[in-house]
Amino acid sequence: MLRTHTCGELRKEHEGKKVVLCGWMHSLREHGNVVFLDLRDRYGITQIVASDTLKDRLQSLKRESVVRIAGTVVAKPEPNEKLETGNIEVQAQTLEVLGEADTLPVDYQDPHITEESRLTYRYLDLRRPDMQHNIILKHKAALAAREFLDKEQFVEIETPMLMRHTPEGARDYVVPSRINQGLFYSLPQSPQIYKQILMVSGFDRYFQIARCMRDENLRMDRQPEFTQIDMEMSFVDEQDVFDVLERMHAHIFKHTLGIDLKVPFERLTYKQAMDRYGSDKPDLRFGLELVDVTDIMKETEVQAFKENKTVYCLNAKNCAEFSRKKIDKLNDIARTYHTKGVFWMKGITDGPLAKLLDENTARALAKRCEAGEHDLLVVIADDWQKATTALGHLRNEIIKEKELQPTEPFKFAWIHDFPMFEWDEEEARWDAMHNPFSMPREEHLEYLEKDPSRVHAKQYDLTLNGVELGSGSVRNHKREILERVLKVMGHEFEEATKKFGFMLNAFRYGVPPHGGFAVGFDRLITLMCGHTDIREVIAFPKNKKAQGMMEGSPSEIDKKHLKELGLHLNN
Ligand code: AMO
Repeated sequence: MLRTHTCGELRKEHEGKKVVLCGWMHSLREHGNVVFLDLRDRYGITQIVASDTLKDRLQSLKRESVVRIAGTVVAKPEPNEKLETGNIEVQAQTLEVLGEADTLPVDYQDPHITEESRLTYRYLDLRRPDMQHNIILKHKAALAAREFLDKEQFVEIETPMLMRHTPEGARDYVVPSRINQGLFYSLPQSPQIYKQILMVSGFDRYFQIARCMRDENLRMDRQPEFTQIDMEMSFVDEQDVFDVLERMHAHIFKHTLGIDLKVPFERLTYKQAMDRYGSDKPDLRFGLELVDVTDIMKETEVQAFKENKTVYCLNAKNCAEFSRKKIDKLNDIARTYHTKGVFWMKGITDGPLAKLLDENTARALAKRCEAGEHDLLVVIADDWQKATTALGHLRNEIIKEKELQPTEPFKFAWIHDFPMFEWDEEEARWDAMHNPFSMPREEHLEYLEKDPSRVHAKQYDLTLNGVELGSGSVRNHKREILERVLKVMGHEFEEATKKFGFMLNAFRYGVPPHGGFAVGFDRLITLMCGHTDIREVIAFPKNKKAQGMMEGSPSEIDKKHLKELGLHLNN
């Protein structure tokens, strides 16, 4: 090693020791005829004191140059409480320049640095302690997950990156084949099909910290490349998957953040989540539950309440102070989610809704919603799905607007018992709410053809603080049930399963019942680090246009290369 210690290691007990440190020149201060250099590496900062020729040489170097310093540890007369190494400093005796830096193109420590600069000069951005913290936490969480899963008999198995196109929701990234011209591989959106095939092969419990690629529009919680903790298990039902995942998250939190998670996590059916929070990924840390007030409002003479199937109300606690402008914004949001807008009242006398209702009804409404004079009641009349969904978005807006503080830092919840189908109004047919490959609940099989709306699937999502962290299902491994499901959706079995017929073929030769899950690993780490943007936990993320700004991807390829691949571009 070029060094004897790291820059975070030296303490009082090292006094008098000769040491060699390597690191980046973080900052340099002149004081009389000495300079103080803060020498930095991943482990911390150590103060170096240099005089005479060393002082001049250090002063001739640019900030962030990499140097090697040999010297003696001395006690600091006035300890620096802010540094872990603050009790000592190193009196430099020799200096070697290992990597001289040019003037930096950006000040990577500037809190107002643009996102573009951060991504273009990612090697500098990754020097920031909080980025190093995030990336190292991710590493530790992956280790903790592996350790846990290994103990639970899961086997980590790699699956192909170059695969066949399968219909999985998003668009695939495709790779042209040079050897098989005119044909393309797809990059995996997830290892879904392979992991199910591994169950057919008898591996029983599979996992992989898997890279996935999806060509979709990007958001704060979406990258074109991301990582899943991907799992599959044989001979299990929903509860078994819940149990393993709860214990895995508890293990990860304990071993990385030292936090004891409460297990089991709260479980809400899809219906309960929508009824109470208007979302299938509700943040449960803020109360503010929706209230079904259909029965009260149906009694009134108000046309909108009479003609709509449901009426739901959100008690926006302490929001009576909201200006007209803020309420108009709520109304606009409600319209974006396909409702006709909101009725509202403050207390029981103020606002358009109060004018529409007689006093008894207004009182009954306020009582049901536990509303007082400081509260704003927001009411939407529509069908159940639209009314609850719109109020769910208003709930999020109110949480944001009032800057409500969560009751706890981390709140997990399972959302399960999703309907198998939803009615596609445009196409006038039933479509799968998630995908057709989840197992319908046994007790609902009899309704498959008679009343698809009554069929629920063994499909579940895990949410954390209002973010969809992962999803999974017990798979439909029975051909005759899959045939019936596809028929409900108006698909012929052969046509609908052409692209992944190889998996169904495998099922013909002894398939165990199986189910699994995939955790969005980047999302998990983002929340553990207290961020909202997943790029904060990915070393080399893409920008919003799916470009790698540092390396300049995607990029053109030359004509010779195109020709080899048998490709011709029109422009
Ligand atoms: P799903 O498509 O729901 O399920 O993905 C599982 C989880 O992966 C994360 N995720 C993403 N994270 C970052 N960027 C993206 N573009 C992105 N897309 C998804 C989310 C999501 O909840 N094969 C199934 C799982 C299974 O059934 O076992 C699957 O991939 O956190």
